[in-house]
Amino acid sequence: MKKFRVGILGATGMVGQRFVSLLAHHPWFDVVVLAASPRSAGQEYRVAVEGRWMMTTPIPEAMAALTVLRVEEDIDAITSQVQLVFCALDLEKEKIKEIEEAYASRGIVVVSNNSAHRWTPDIPMLIPEVNGEHLELIHAQRKARGWTRGCIVVKPNCSLQSFVPVLHALRQYGIARVLVSTYQALSGAGKTLASWPEMQDNVIPFIGGEEEKTEKEPLKIWGRIVGDHVEPATTPLISATCVRVPVSDGHLATVSVSFAKKVTSDEIIAAWRQFSNPLTALKLPFAPEPFITYFSEDNRPQTNLDRMIGNGMGIAIGRLRPDPLFDWKFVALSHNTIRGAAGGAILIAELLVAKEYIHRPLSS
Ligand SMILES: NC(=O)c1ccc[n+]([C@@H]2O[C@H](COP(=O)([O-])OP(=O)(O)OC[C@H]3O[C@@H](n4cnc5c(N)ncnc54)[C@H](OP(=O)(O)O)[C@@H]3O)[C@@H](O)[C@H]2O)c1
Repeated sequence: MKKFRVGILGATGMVGQRFVSLLAHHPWFDVVVLAASPRSAGQEYRVAVEGRWMMTTPIPEAMAALTVLRVEEDIDAITSQVQLVFCALDLEKEKIKEIEEAYASRGIVVVSNNSAHRWTPDIPMLIPEVNGEHLELIHAQRKARGWTRGCIVVKPNCSLQSFVPVLHALRQYGIARVLVSTYQALSGAGKTLASWPEMQDNVIPFIGGEEEKTEKEPLKIWGRIVGDHVEPATTPLISATCVRVPVSDGHLATVSVSFAKKVTSDEIIAAWRQFSNPLTALKLPFAPEPFITYFSEDNRPQTNLDRMIGNGMGIAIGRLRPDPLFDWKFVALSHNTIRGAAGGAILIAELLVAKEYIHRPLSS
């Protein structure tokens, strides 16, 4: 099969490196451009990330020798080589919006990890298994902006990837209120214990902007398309506390939930086990099977043991039990830089291919 030619913007950072390692042998995507700031540009990728390569596997050979380009100054050179870019930049929001729109206006499909465009009404914010149908907004987005081939699709925040799909599987019972606490890994801040020694033997009870995103983004994901925009859902009411813990990867969430209808633990577990995954029939390379795994052991899921479930794309849940204040409570886990960042974005790109929102490859 001819592959799509893709680029990574912000390829030298934590999420960018994760894209590089996950895309090394992708059956549909061929990484031909790596771009970052002028600080890294002009160097071979292996040199640009020397001393800051944070993945546990070596730099893929095919990408190690690519010369890093500048995201802004080299836009013409980049857009002449690729059909799609993954965006993992860390910059001010307005700048990121400008860059993503500049790429889309030149005919490039942009799949972004950034929060800059998450609340732009005509830009879909996607968890493919939950609201893949929001991709239909791309038609209105292209029409309104005069884009023919380009578009922007964003991935929601990493903190909510574990519990939103799990609650989605229970929506038939009417989710009324949710209390969630997230225990978030260091890699979510682009760091490791070596680069953030203050995190040793420590928990930090604040992650800027995270609680607001965790409370609000699910409502756009559960929203419905009305004309040229998404109308966010008005329920459930979500209250979130997000803290940083000294683990390398994996965001764990404790969740309490109340439902409009009575539901038993057997019904909940059955709903998780029988979750009808709309991606199954599409056979996307990064879609995990199963998507949701329920553990009956009391001491699961564990961050270290279970974050790589489904190659880091699956959701692990456990400890379902009655809640004296709400109805039920449980624990959920997902890998923050795979499902929650690069892998989640790659899955979106695969869905864009499957649904023919991206044109056929230029060459083999
Ligand atoms: N880490 C996670 O788990 C996670 C999860 C979901 C979403 N995100 C989001 O993903 C984005 C990237 O996060 P990260 O942790 O990977 O950040 P990071 O490690 O700080 O990497 C930032 C990247 O942006 C590039 N960059 C910075 N300034 C630039 C400029 N002026 N022009 C062009 N490129 C520039 C950097 O290039 P240089 O190396 O050349 O400076 C680097 O490649 C952030 O917006 C973050 O909020 C992160």
